[in-house]
Amino acid sequence: MFQAAAIDIENKAEFYRQLAQQLQGLLEGERDMIANAANTSAVMFQMIPDLNWAGFYILRGDELVLGPFQGKPACVRIPVGRGVCGTAVREGTSILVKDVHTFSGHIACDAASRSELVVPVRNGNDIIGVMDLHSPLPSRFDTDHQVGIERLAQIFTAATTF
Ligand code: SME
Repeated sequence: MFQAAAIDIENKAEFYRQLAQQLQGLLEGERDMIANAANTSAVMFQMIPDLNWAGFYILRGDELVLGPFQGKPACVRIPVGRGVCGTAVREGTSILVKDVHTFSGHIACDAASRSELVVPVRNGNDIIGVMDLHSPLPSRFDTDHQVGIERLAQIFTAATTF
């Protein structure tokens, strides 16, 4: 069973290496997308300090639809190209937002959010959704977090049948 072992966030590369290992262990033996997305959200929310939201949006046609998450209730549908999440899908790239108030078109679901990190989730070459993390602190995420979360996204897709 998953143990919330204390891991050192000061050394982010090592922190995310251990988190990746824990997630891999947790998802082992289960290939259901909803179950794995739910547990991935829970691991991120429990283990990464200073988050107020962590979860998934799944691509359905030309819209992102809210998936498993931890945090306050959120907007359900985001068209591709809209908000941080829809822009990440359109551009096919992760987006780090140091201050959500300066991102034109940002969609505010939780007024407490100040910074945000959105990472595309890929099944092979296809984007099948995004992982979205929010912090109430400005500039909470940097490229170390981005690389770490991108690794978690790979572990999630490798463990899951779509
Ligand atoms: N801020 C996101 C919307 C999703 S949530 O806030 C959970 C965006 O701009 O795409």
